[in-house]
Amino acid sequence: TTLLIICGGMSHERDVSLASGHRVGGHLEDAGWTVRFHDMDSDLLPYLADPKTRPDIVWPLLHGANGEDGSIRDILEMEGLPYIGSRAKASRTAWSKPIAKNVVRKLGGLSTPHSVTLPESTFRELGAKKVVDLLVSALKLPLFVKPTRGGSAMGCSRVDRADQLPQAMVDCFAYGDVALVEQAVTGTEISVSVLDIDGEPLVLPPLEVTTPDGSYDFEARTNPGPADFYVPARLPSEVLEAAQNAALAAHETLSLRDISRTDFIVDESGTPQFLESNVAPGMTATSMLPEAAVAAGYDLPDLYSSLVESVLR
Ligand code: DAL
Ligand code: MG
Repeated sequence: TTLLIICGGMSHERDVSLASGHRVGGHLEDAGWTVRFHDMDSDLLPYLADPKTRPDIVWPLLHGANGEDGSIRDILEMEGLPYIGSRAKASRTAWSKPIAKNVVRKLGGLSTPHSVTLPESTFRELGAKKVVDLLVSALKLPLFVKPTRGGSAMGCSRVDRADQLPQAMVDCFAYGDVALVEQAVTGTEISVSVLDIDGEPLVLPPLEVTTPDGSYDFEARTNPGPADFYVPARLPSEVLEAAQNAALAAHETLSLRDISRTDFIVDESGTPQFLESNVAPGMTATSMLPEAAVAAGYDLPDLYSSLVESVLR
């Protein structure tokens, strides 16, 4: 059996994806799999079609655009290749933060911070001053401004004062043409990973992340050091259970498959507030999913192997 890991790609998260892909590939090689790597490029289709290079199964570990928006998964479906992870259509839904927030709120009954979406064209037409007035009257400060489609906190800013909002919007539009302006909830930042193994969802313990400056930004995500992880999160057991149930509800209502990581802020009342679900969670040496799995006592080569076997079965 040859397993192909697709990583790298053309998104802003290219380097993160290369790190995820090679780390997962290394663990699968340790577990005895024959692993090949492909850095997503225009030659993917001929590569998959050629009997000399066509794999038996694919693990798409592309983060960001093309990877998480479903487009590569569409190709794998057209090619009839089994792959690890959510279908193209579900990936597209989860990839849009505002759409995912609506789905989990309306169908899953989850809480999610209040938010407004704003296209760049509207920002330019109305002007910064008017937009600031509208947003500050619709939502209370502090806020987060994020690209509606993006990852690794790129283009995200926290806004504590109204005068910081225009710069945050402009920074956001460097990564995408629609901004999600979301109420910043005070609480505990957690991530909950779900893996479908042998038809059963395995919900890992909630992982809590803290940073010295309170901002789990790109630097803190991709370098060892700045972020501290606590597994399980330092929360009462009933809140941990509620967070695990909420992650499972997000996984199910968004029709996710095989692997997902859902991020929440647990607010001061102990309610997990849904931020987003990731169909290609980071799998690097500083990423949360592998850290939560190891803390829960799993051996990563065994765990990833069981996941691949479940998909092949
Ligand atoms: N977008 C990064 C890879 C993550 O969610 O872990
Ligand atoms: Mg994400």
